[in-house]
Amino acid sequence: MNNTDSPAFHYVGGELHCESTPLAQIASQWGTPTYVYSRSAILAAYQRYVAALTGRKAMVCYAMKANSNLGVLSLLARAGSGFDIVSGGELARALAAGADPSRIVFSGVGKSAADMRSALQAGIACFNVESAAELDRLDQVARGLQRRAPVSLRINPDVDAKTHPYISTGLRSNKFGIPAAEALAIYRHAASLPGIAVVGIDCHIGSQITSVAPYIEAAERVLDLVDALAAAGIPLRHIDLGGGLGIRYRDETAPAVDELIGALLACMDSRGHGDKTLVLEPGRSIVGNAGVLLSRVEVLKPGVEKNFAVIDAAMNDLLRPALYDAWMDLWPVQPRGGVGRVYDVVGPVCESADWLARERALDIAEGDLLAILSAGAYAMSMASNYNSRGRPAEIIVDGTRAHLVRAREPVAELFSGEALLPP
Ligand code: LLP
Repeated sequence: MNNTDSPAFHYVGGELHCESTPLAQIASQWGTPTYVYSRSAILAAYQRYVAALTGRKAMVCYAMKANSNLGVLSLLARAGSGFDIVSGGELARALAAGADPSRIVFSGVGKSAADMRSALQAGIACFNVESAAELDRLDQVARGLQRRAPVSLRINPDVDAKTHPYISTGLRSNKFGIPAAEALAIYRHAASLPGIAVVGIDCHIGSQITSVAPYIEAAERVLDLVDALAAAGIPLRHIDLGGGLGIRYRDETAPAVDELIGALLACMDSRGHGDKTLVLEPGRSIVGNAGVLLSRVEVLKPGVEKNFAVIDAAMNDLLRPALYDAWMDLWPVQPRGGVGRVYDVVGPVCESADWLARERALDIAEGDLLAILSAGAYAMSMASNYNSRGRPAEIIVDGTRAHLVRAREPVAELFSGEALLPP
């Protein structure tokens, strides 16, 4: 039990609780697998950003790809959060959750004309544009609606965020952003387009970043461009330095939010840009440690080489171990206290990649409940229906109350849009 960053999940009288609600109670009421989130942990994580930015011009735009459940979004929208979206689908969710469109930024490398139109009509704060082609398309769409699209160019600063290669985004070998060397010319072009209003600059170098140094390196490169743009007569209102702050899954030591923000603000001040609005797009660090995936042991399979614990959650519910080789902590809900055995904890899906935890010492029996920790981010939002499995239910706990914020997906819904071939 290494995870110390989830104070919302703790044992009381030998039973794992979320806030003041026993997880076993949630399992008996709503079944498993089920995602359980702590309302207070989400709000506390968001407030850490707000507190670190007190007295500054700033906008925190929660990157909703981390967890886009309407209950989570509505909680953050009511707390005043903005949102970072990457699709028309995310825009629709954010609006359905009560988001203020003037606090929405739209990221992503392949925005469709239809998505651009919806976002313009909604009146979002900014499009983070990733290529010259996207800029021209956005100009056309905006002109068609007799509007001007507020734009930042996303710069690729060619900085190594020192994270898993699949979630590194700021290297020049990555598909993201515009190379710094081309940015000035594209900004000049942007400033000449009638459908575009240049408002800012943006960068995002990766996710699960565990040191401040790459952020500062990226910020310095972005600020070099802000200077060059000012000299070229293109002033900017805001500087968006992305998301990416890591969390503790096992023994990682990520910087505290106020340490990161303090360093970024100091960097902006020292370069004479303290008057600009700082935009941040945190995802994982808001919700990651605020959630668990609650699951039940189906069968135990002692083996010659390995012992397997087959649980009712699988790679379709939680893809991070299979996709990134991610280590997720695993706690028994009602620990038995014995020595147990070493298990590979796997799901029922027909793939050997379907594992959730490997080589864990667990004293468990069939029917026991397990909680996979740090599963508030990039877990349900990446779930699929592989093997025709309905996706889990989602619950937000508020003290002793548990709210169902998404019902378990009924199997009939999985094929409701399909048709038999006519005879
Ligand atoms: N802004 C942009 C433009 C992004 O691409 C991302 C994440 C974020 C903000 C939020 O980053 P965060 O604060 O959450 O690190 N599925 C992967 C993570 C993919 C992150 C993609 N971009 C995982 O499970 O580790």
